[in-house]
Amino acid sequence: MADTTSGGTDVFEIMHTTRSMRRLRPDPVPDELIRKILQAGACAANGGNTQRWRFLVVKDPAIKKAVAAYYKRAFQEVVGPRYRSSPPPPGVSPERYQRQHSAVEYLTEHFHEAPVWIVACIEDAAPPTRWSGASVYPAVQNMLLAARALGLGSTLTTRHLLHEKEAEAALGLPPGVHSYAILPIGWPMGRFGPVGRGALADIVYQDRWGQPYPGL
Ligand SMILES: Cc1cc2nc3c(=O)[nH]c(=O)nc-3n(C[C@H](O)[C@H](O)[C@H](O)COP(=O)(O)O)c2cc1C
Repeated sequence: MADTTSGGTDVFEIMHTTRSMRRLRPDPVPDELIRKILQAGACAANGGNTQRWRFLVVKDPAIKKAVAAYYKRAFQEVVGPRYRSSPPPPGVSPERYQRQHSAVEYLTEHFHEAPVWIVACIEDAAPPTRWSGASVYPAVQNMLLAARALGLGSTLTTRHLLHEKEAEAALGLPPGVHSYAILPIGWPMGRFGPVGRGALADIVYQDRWGQPYPGL
């Protein structure tokens, strides 16, 4: 398993340790680092290289608070009950899953305290489709990896979309612009650790669905 504590930039180490960091310090993050993260995002693949992505950097406490209220409401209405009744996912022990629950609750309460948010959007008159998502999530993943490489914590969040209209109004998005993720970014309180995932053998097939891929 990758070394989870060093500040190295080996891409495999970074990928193996880019887990959701939900406990963040409110201390400011230099714009130079945010710029690097945004630049990494804008390197990503996107359909036809049309680059319809737009990134809203939010630092204004009032805006974050207004959106965070919908994020919290969605937890109370949907996400909390779902978490409480679901088993641990593949590759995750019950204890680790419990820690995840606590971290999810923590972020729910402290979402607005992350010093910087990057809201990943697509500007397109047409209604959002699977293709629109496919043209922004590679950028989102690049930004998560870049943040990790810089020692900054983040989490891909989409829960505000359960109250999409209200949250996007609070973000001040103009017509034709939709949000796909909010990345709260800050210095992590804890350490980066390995991600918990199931075995490849359970999810990879060769030629025919269900037929094992012998290359593992
Ligand atoms: C589409 C998507 C939406 C997500 N939305 C949220 C969210 O709203 N809040 C949150 O705390 N985590 C969210 N996550 C993070 C996942 O819960 C997390 O990636 C998963 O539990 C694996 O944990 P890890 O990132 O620590 O390895 C989201 C992840 C994805 C890919």
